[in-house]
Amino acid sequence: MKRSLTKETINKEEQDVSVSGWVDTIRSHGKLIFIDLRDYSGILQVVFNAQKSEVYELAKKLRPEWVVEIQGTIKKRPDNLVNNNIETGKIELAANGLIVLSESGALPISIEKDGYEMDEEKRLKYRYLDLRRKRLQRNLKERHRVIKYMRDFLSERGFTEIETPILAKSTPEGAREFLVPSRFHKGKFFALAQSPQQYKQLLMVAGFEKYFQVARALRDEDPRADRQAEHTQLDIELSFYSQEEILELVENLYIDLVKNLFPEKKIKEIPFPRITYQEAAEKYQSDKPDLRSDKKDENELAFAFITDFPMFEWKEGDKRWGAMHHPFTKPQTDDVAEIKKDPSKILAFQYDAVLNGFEIGGGSIRNINADVLKEVFKVLGNKEKDIMEQFSHYFDAFGFGVPPHGGIALGIDRFLAILMNEPNIREVIAFPKTGDNKDLMIGIPSAVDKMQLKELGIEIRGRKNKK
Ligand code: AMO
Repeated sequence: MKRSLTKETINKEEQDVSVSGWVDTIRSHGKLIFIDLRDYSGILQVVFNAQKSEVYELAKKLRPEWVVEIQGTIKKRPDNLVNNNIETGKIELAANGLIVLSESGALPISIEKDGYEMDEEKRLKYRYLDLRRKRLQRNLKERHRVIKYMRDFLSERGFTEIETPILAKSTPEGAREFLVPSRFHKGKFFALAQSPQQYKQLLMVAGFEKYFQVARALRDEDPRADRQAEHTQLDIELSFYSQEEILELVENLYIDLVKNLFPEKKIKEIPFPRITYQEAAEKYQSDKPDLRSDKKDENELAFAFITDFPMFEWKEGDKRWGAMHHPFTKPQTDDVAEIKKDPSKILAFQYDAVLNGFEIGGGSIRNINADVLKEVFKVLGNKEKDIMEQFSHYFDAFGFGVPPHGGIALGIDRFLAILMNEPNIREVIAFPKTGDNKDLMIGIPSAVDKMQLKELGIEIRGRKNKK
């Protein structure tokens, strides 16, 4: 018999069905054994009756989390036993056949509750069990719906999703990079892409005009509640769009998405307030102010755009200028002398999207003036020769007809964590890393074979490469 999902059995009263899934809970009442059977669509109560002795005897052996296939007839429950908390609460399955597909030992972690009460390291070590938890099933399904909504929204508006390399070039975007040694070219390295920044700009030179990508970005940063070594961005780039047109596009995306997928949420202010960096600093002492009227209200969403960031920030530790966003951002002046004279005074066409006190997106209009771009790199401490070496592709491309362009990247993990009222982004990522950047489930980072290192021309000094 073809498998039915538990939720499909609702309309199958008095029909014979076969269902498969996990034993969620077991209750024995003398001559009756009740189990809740769980599959991805929900829960179904199954009754084993002692009168059907063979199946009943087998059912006595069942334990939670065993995987089973059960045949039987769908019956209406007596009125006093209806359970309105589950979709299939008006019916149950009277079992007449049972096949154990796979047994389970006692679980090392409980998956009944929401899991906040438990040691997180243990949850992450057994993440494949942790993910059976209702809360995390929901988070990942909502994540899918949000990403699909974003994809559809942009696709309907003429955007093309284009994948860009993960094995990329070391770039000066600010974060420390993960390096990947090249076997073919010993001593040379790829950098894992911190973002598709340079590629997406080159796609503008290539004439695509409207690009997006649900992109993985990799940064060797210290993880925090809202930061992971790899995160997912909705990466966007557009040609011939002004800053305000880009902000409007993003605003409409968020408004439509919230209205359609999370109708219970209330957006505090539409259009989203546009606040300059300076105003935000003066009024809220923050470039990501939390503008909610009631911070205890789980359904309030206070979006804002912060604009007009300074182009440069002084890095006291290194005693040098850094780019507030990245060097490809367009300064609000094209006057090279002015930039050289006092970098601290130069503003940029840069903007962040902010939600409930978190930065959920950042972008800028890009600098397509080669002279100004060179000057920006110089302020950042690069030598002309190095600039031309490291970014020759970029400067070359700019010599062949480059459209004015700009874009943004929206942090999907942070947005989801806020929507799902989660305290950290690990709760909305299937396999996140711990605070010290480990995957406890599969045990990485891990030592590698000596031969592998030899092939790459790498020798580990100091610490042992112990397996
Ligand atoms: P930016 O570095 O601001 O911009 O990143 C865009 C957005 O991604 C989210 N984000 C993160 N989320 C989780 N963990 C992290 N480590 C992490 N780092 C960033 C934030 C952030 O706003 N190339 C530019 C975009 C552009 O200019 O178009 C960029 O990547 O929500």
